[in-house]
Amino acid sequence: MKNNSRTFALFGNPVAQSLSPLMHSAAFREMKIDASYRALRVGDARDVPGEMEKLNISGASITIPHKTGIMQYLDTVSDSAARIGAVNTVTRADGRLKGDNTDWTGLISALSEALEIRGKRFAVLGAGGAARAAVYGILTEGGIPVVVNRTVQKGEQVAKEFGCDFCPLEDTGMIKGYCLINTTPVGMFPNMDASPVSAETLQHFEWVMDTIYNPLETRLLKDAGRAGCRTISGATMFVHQGAEQIRIWTGLQPPTELMKKVVLERLKDETN
Ligand code: ATR
Repeated sequence: MKNNSRTFALFGNPVAQSLSPLMHSAAFREMKIDASYRALRVGDARDVPGEMEKLNISGASITIPHKTGIMQYLDTVSDSAARIGAVNTVTRADGRLKGDNTDWTGLISALSEALEIRGKRFAVLGAGGAARAAVYGILTEGGIPVVVNRTVQKGEQVAKEFGCDFCPLEDTGMIKGYCLINTTPVGMFPNMDASPVSAETLQHFEWVMDTIYNPLETRLLKDAGRAGCRTISGATMFVHQGAEQIRIWTGLQPPTELMKKVVLERLKDETN
């Protein structure tokens, strides 16, 4: 008898802490899709296609450190993922692998729920894959990103590539922006006392978003709240990037609210 159950997975290193299995499994259950989703630790991106074939995996989430390395092993890559230079979603159909990037759509959905992007200036802290996804998304939506980075050369390079301004991290206070978005790992568990910018810097911004979701309320977001800014947690982006993966894999509408509930409950439990 043919087994119609579908298999999905997360590939990365490490993967033990990831909330993707919890979130995706809850979504498939709610959608009444017969599917499993598990986390698989892989040391080398080169091994992902073979594992997908061997385990008959129809869709995979790709996380740190393989988002760029995986690209050369795929048959096709979406235009946005190619422009960003990172893939976080792989779909396997008829033995062919396609790469997408849902980090940028996830970030844009999280922002759009809260604020207006068009015509507004966004300070994007960082110059890695997450920053590139943010810059790409903000430009696509008609916003004005400014790349802000510790290493000047790297930041300038990203700014030049996307045709936007650059500002050194220590000068963040000079930017008069609408929203500040952190894409650096500063403040992530277990270094929860750290923030990428000083608290005084934040008073120039109406909104502050962190792409970090563990802890749920980073030091940056706490400082932002005290400075009178409104805040957006990285958990919102995490949920939306996962929801978009389900849309790509199944063509169906994901239960985004349920996914958010499951993720927030787990993160709140972890803080207590
Ligand atoms: P990702 O692809 O996940 O975005 P990444 O490529 O490692 O991750 O990029 C991380 C970004 O965070 C980099 O821009 C890095 O700044 P540098 O270019 O100066 O290395 C930034 N970053 C990491 N640790 C930082 C720290 N302690 N202070 C400031 N910026 C930091």
